[in-house]
Amino acid sequence: MNRFAWVLVLLLPFHPMLHPARSQAQTPPRKTPELLKQGKAVFEKNCALCHGLKGDGKGQLGATFKPPPNDFTKPLSEWPTTKGDMKKVFDAITKGVPNTSMVKWGHLSEKDRWALVHTVLEFSKPPAKK
Ligand code: HEC
Repeated sequence: MNRFAWVLVLLLPFHPMLHPARSQAQTPPRKTPELLKQGKAVFEKNCALCHGLKGDGKGQLGATFKPPPNDFTKPLSEWPTTKGDMKKVFDAITKGVPNTSMVKWGHLSEKDRWALVHTVLEFSKPPAKK
């Protein structure tokens, strides 16, 4: 076999057609400044009341809930429900978190929800050095 044929053989297992389930799973859109801006706007409107404008869980209503809303500024490994896993964060937003005051937000567009995923994950990072 020539070298080109070998490359094809090696790449074949990664072809998306061979992984129907995976190719159907929602693919996160790339994080862009526009998407983050969109996410921030949706977050401030819908989520900040509980999760806080800074994502620290200190929204006006935050303290009234048991369990309280997650403090997104903590390291991802300490996020109680999703550990900061993108897909799980998306699911938590889409389906809500059982037995908590986190309701489902599946009525928001898929793009809005991915924008929110990027936005909440961003809270967990130390502020960019300027
Ligand atoms: C009524 C208060 C409330 C509102 C409004 C709310 N949340 Fe929550 N949220 C909670 C609570 C309580 C939890 C459960 C505890 C937890 O897992 O943080 C939670 C959990 C989460 C989690 C899982 C975090 C983890 O532990 O891994 C994510 C992600 C999340 N919320 C995002 C959002 C987004 C995005 C919005 C806006 C669209 C939103 N929430 C609106 C209260 C709220």
